[in-house]
Amino acid sequence: FAAKFIAQRGFAYFHEQSVRRGELTGVVEELVSGKDVLEAFDAQGQACERFRDVDARLGESSFKAVFYSSLVNPTTRFVNALVYAGVGIFGALAAIAGTLTVGGLTAFLSYANQYTKPFNDISEVLTELQNSFACAARLFELLDEPQIEPDRPGAIELRGTTGAVSLSNVCFSYTPGRPLIRDFTLEVRPGTRVAIVGPTGCGKTTMINLLMRFYDVDAGTIAIDGHDIRDVTRKSLRSSFGMVLQETWVKSATVRENLTLGRPDATDEQVKAAARAAFADEFIERLPHGYDTMLNGEEASISSGQRQLLCIARAMLADAPMLILDEATSNIDTRTEVKVQKAFERLMEGRTSFIVAHRLSTIVGADVIVAMRDGRIVETGTHDELLARGGFYASLYESQFS
Ligand SMILES: Nc1ncnc2c1ncn2[C@@H]1O[C@H](COP(=O)(O)OP(=O)(O)OP(=O)(O)O)[C@@H](O)[C@H]1O
Ligand SMILES: [Mg+2]
Repeated sequence: FAAKFIAQRGFAYFHEQSVRRGELTGVVEELVSGKDVLEAFDAQGQACERFRDVDARLGESSFKAVFYSSLVNPTTRFVNALVYAGVGIFGALAAIAGTLTVGGLTAFLSYANQYTKPFNDISEVLTELQNSFACAARLFELLDEPQIEPDRPGAIELRGTTGAVSLSNVCFSYTPGRPLIRDFTLEVRPGTRVAIVGPTGCGKTTMINLLMRFYDVDAGTIAIDGHDIRDVTRKSLRSSFGMVLQETWVKSATVRENLTLGRPDATDEQVKAAARAAFADEFIERLPHGYDTMLNGEEASISSGQRQLLCIARAMLADAPMLILDEATSNIDTRTEVKVQKAFERLMEGRTSFIVAHRLSTIVGADVIVAMRDGRIVETGTHDELLARGGFYASLYESQFS
């Protein structure tokens, strides 16, 4: 009972300790990755303050956890010693009175010791046990998080799509009660180029996320070739899109492995052809080991524009029936951009493509331009139609070119 009483308090602190440790790891990760910005704004002081604060709380909970759990063993030993003393005294009295032999008393004392030994042993490892249980509890919290909804039973494989995409009355919000996309309806004929434009934060990337089914729509439907994308396996849906996202990502692996992410069986020739098409071959050849250079490590760090070129080459290699380009050329110098645009034009031929771009010069050739504001479509049409209308798109365009 004594052990249980103390151990319960110890466990609470162990749990707190593992939560704090997670917090501290998060803070460190954030501070290290944002080091340059912190230094530029001379905010190291604030950062250290924040680290010290979390660190101090971790220290406190660790101290208490270890303190309480370390009390358990001495306490059980103390209780056991009392038992031993009690047995000794009563036994001695009984021996004097002649109801117990000295031999019997000795045997009894030795039994008392043997009986309490396991309790002492258990309480010795209690600290480690409790720590493990607290960590396991954290792990189970994570495992108990709801899973993403599995593919529906009987979901079909999307193969060789023509690229007819139809969005009808799509509504979506990240946080319930704060609608973002409202009543979005758009018919995309196979092989057309759809450009989505609009001010920052209007929901362009969100629309891409919905198309790729990174999130499910709250209402309405998105259908590809007449199949609701919820009736299609996620894997086949995603492999139908080649994409260059706004946030570029390269893994710590060789250039080649990065390029073949969506198509592991690509031959060297194909990899090089894709890199050439994306105008990435020039800088790749200049890396210490060419296509076998490890990225993100000591061997080579590449610039944001170069990362974007890699992502473009990756999408070109994937050769999927539909394309998504979210600000795909935003980090690239204008001269390279013009060249990459030409490569895209070739790639987009006959494929349904969704292009998001702030530089409107890159989308004037689109078949349909969708101008969005606050999650709604305000205008659709070709570049010339929208300019002639003199509405929202025209004002966006003029602000860039007047
Ligand atoms: N994961 C998310 N959770 C909650 N809200 C989000 C999330 N991602 C984006 N938002 C919110 O949704 C809105 C639309 O974001 P979105 O990324 O679609 O904008 P965007 O049109 O792509 O902007 P930009 O031109 O800057 O890329 C923003 O106001 C943003 O705050
Ligand atoms: Mg965006």
